Amino acid sequence: MQFSVAVSLIVFLLADLLIQNVDLEKSENLEIHKTEDFSDSKVLVLRRGAPFKVTLQLGGRAFNPHTDSLRIKILLGRLYSIMPVTFSKTVSSSSSSWKACFDPKDLNLQNPSIFLSSPASAPVGIYRFAMYVSSKNGWHRSRFSTFVLVCNPWCREDAVYIPFEDEREEYVLNTSGLLFMGTAVNNVSRPWSFDQYEPGVLEACLNLLQISPQHLKNRRVDYLNRNNPVYISRVVSAMINCEDDHGILKGNWSGDFKQGVNPTMWTGSGDILLQWARSGFSPVKYGQCWVYAAVMCTVMRVLGIPCRVVTNFNSAHDTNANLVIEEYYSETGQKLKLSKDSIWNFHVWVECWMNRRDLGSGMDGWQVLDPTPQERSGGVYCCGPAPVKAIKDRHINLPYDIPFVYAEVNADVHTVIISQGRAISYHKDKDRVGSLICTKAVGFPRLQNITENYKYTKSPTSTLRSHSSTMSGDSALSAGASPKEVSVSLILDKAPLAGQPISFTMKITNKQSVPKRMNVHINAQVKEYNNSPSDTFWEKQGIIHLAPREVTLLQQQIHPDEYESVVGDNLINLAVVLEDMATHERYLASDEFNITSPKLHIQVERETSIVLHKEQAAVVAFTNPFTHNISGEVIVSGSGLIQGKLHCRISALPPGGTVIKRFTFTPRMAGAKMLQATLFLSDISTVITGFEMVVVRKASTTYY
Ligand SMILES: *[C@@H]1O[C@H](CO)[C@@H](O)[C@H](O)[C@H]1NC(C)=O
Ligand SMILES: *[C@@H]1O[C@H](CO)[C@@H](O)[C@H](O)[C@H]1NC(C)=O
Ligand SMILES: *[C@@H]1O[C@H](CO)[C@@H](O)[C@H](O)[C@H]1NC(C)=O
Ligand SMILES: *[C@@H]1O[C@H](CO)[C@@H](O)[C@H](O)[C@H]1NC(C)=O
Ligand SMILES: *[C@@H]1O[C@H](CO)[C@@H](O)[C@H](O)[C@H]1NC(C)=O
Ligand SMILES: *[C@@H]1O[C@H](CO)[C@@H](O)[C@H](O)[C@H]1NC(C)=O
Repeated sequence: MQFSVAVSLIVFLLADLLIQNVDLEKSENLEIHKTEDFSDSKVLVLRRGAPFKVTLQLGGRAFNPHTDSLRIKILLGRLYSIMPVTFSKTVSSSSSSWKACFDPKDLNLQNPSIFLSSPASAPVGIYRFAMYVSSKNGWHRSRFSTFVLVCNPWCREDAVYIPFEDEREEYVLNTSGLLFMGTAVNNVSRPWSFDQYEPGVLEACLNLLQISPQHLKNRRVDYLNRNNPVYISRVVSAMINCEDDHGILKGNWSGDFKQGVNPTMWTGSGDILLQWARSGFSPVKYGQCWVYAAVMCTVMRVLGIPCRVVTNFNSAHDTNANLVIEEYYSETGQKLKLSKDSIWNFHVWVECWMNRRDLGSGMDGWQVLDPTPQERSGGVYCCGPAPVKAIKDRHINLPYDIPFVYAEVNADVHTVIISQGRAISYHKDKDRVGSLICTKAVGFPRLQNITENYKYTKSPTSTLRSHSSTMSGDSALSAGASPKEVSVSLILDKAPLAGQPISFTMKITNKQSVPKRMNVHINAQVKEYNNSPSDTFWEKQGIIHLAPREVTLLQQQIHPDEYESVVGDNLINLAVVLEDMATHERYLASDEFNITSPKLHIQVERETSIVLHKEQAAVVAFTNPFTHNISGEVIVSGSGLIQGKLHCRISALPPGGTVIKRFTFTPRMAGAKMLQATLFLSDISTVITGFEMVVVRKASTTYY
């Protein structure tokens, strides 16, 4: 006994204090930091402004609080901070500096646990740290460990703090969402998989910061600026498109996508980010606005900055910055390509949530960021962050890019009928642009109208009126400037469905007490969402007689075989022009709309008993609504549910025919996940989608 005490005393005196191992306590830290779903990643992902725990395994002897000391060095690139590990009664975070203390609840001198707290304004990035213990021979250093630090919307002191738990879960953690397209009156939702936690996505997002022009130009300054979400979001916005840098996506609006992937074919951000990273950062072909926005949403969510995808219906692109968009029609109702200004049926951007310490608290909250390359801002293709509050109140001098976004949601539309090079009728519409601004609702797969955040809306009816407004010759440009004699409006009888006739009614009112003879031209053109219409594919012409004060309804139908082969994924621009045969006065009404695609049905069997790591069956079903045979490929995917994608072919499915395919998958992540099915038709360019939300439960701990 005596002897052994003596020996251990000698060991105590002679042996040097050594750090054998630093345990990063991954599972405990991931849970506290709400980064559990990154557990497959090799590196520990932490949020700033919150303590994390590491446990040391000391060799040689135990730590002696009276004589030994312990320090930590934290590095971000060449920036570093050194701090002592202190004894403190509570673990606290400071908003300005790194801190470290021994676990106050459990002081184990052989294997001490230490809490490290980053400031809530720490730069985002890949950090390294090492522990140093003092000894007779100076300092002994452990091996370096690595962790990734991202923003923390759960932390009050963080500039991205968002006060509601359901919003934090939706805007940071949700791996799936809906993107809205089509038109305001006939919105189409597309399921999208953000894929934050798919293998390789985290690394791609971090690499995006490392290869940004700002980082390459001056690493030190870039690292220091990365504490600020305003700066980070602006860097990311420029890196999503490949103009000016090694960014992710190449845009193409030509309709010819042979050298890459048709933008409508993407179903999630993961494939795009992985393709970009694997190719050594060459641009992925091709993106359009919703693809740019959705990929940016993934990157921001990974970096811990709350983000959502927003659609603006009838989005103005005002090239000459006069807040007016001009549109021209021929006498027969054909829309002409005379103006560089344009109205996209929809445009998609993102909003990120952050404080604007640079602008004062009135501008905190949602900020518009638009990664689609449209206009240069500060010399590069990026846009924002523009506070949504500044757009609403027209603070156009605040940074960044407010006038551009303001015009996108507020420009006036001037519609002109041209005859032999002369404007013969003119109409102004103040309500059409920005008619509906929306995003996915928190926690539910449906549309949330956020128009009110951007605009003071006048009357509740005016915004939904879409484009079917009447236009008559009562403006300054029209000959005679007589009071309205005739009015015309165009109304779709119901939302057009693929495989069914498009039926619409024109309402024509003779406001005068004389009979009228009118020449009626109706014209239908195919239109891409961001482009002028192409050739006319359907037209009708006729003469009608109107009795004094008569109101007449004319009904028309366009049959599926007249539009199916030409329309595909595109919109239809329908216009009617009336010409008073006596006075040659013209009246126009027009509308733009989508043909609603059929749905692909996807259903999981026994949906209440879906358990992690347990094989599960599901079926996809589709009924052909078209008037011709269809062939194509069904692809099923789901972040956290299916690794990779499942493919199956459909060939020569006759009109009215149904296919049912059964498949199995094994969920890898718990929580509400989106199971997504997409049918790519080979003969018409249409993508048919379907999805189901699936709740995966963690396996119970006992097995029988
Ligand atoms: C969007 O479309 C859905 C489904 O077609 C519909 O139920 C909803 O009312 C539409 N929302 C708006 C605001 O138009
Ligand atoms: C769009 O793609 C087509 C073919 O894939 C190509 O010829 C065209 O140059 C592309 N446009 C741009 C802007 O890359
Ligand atoms: C994500 O959104 C879906 C609805 O689209 C919802 O069912 C799910 O609970 C959400 N997940 C989280 C983590 O908020
Ligand atoms: C969207 O919200 C605005 C403002 O509250 C409202 O005027 C408009 O009618 C709403 N649109 C739809 C389609 O619900
Ligand atoms: C509606 O039109 C948009 C824009 O052209 C297109 O991307 C979308 O796929 C269409 N949706 C349907 C269901 O046809
Ligand atoms: C449609 O498919 C059926 C088989 O499913 C085939 O017999 C028929 O010839 C096809 N029709 C056309 C027009 O291709």
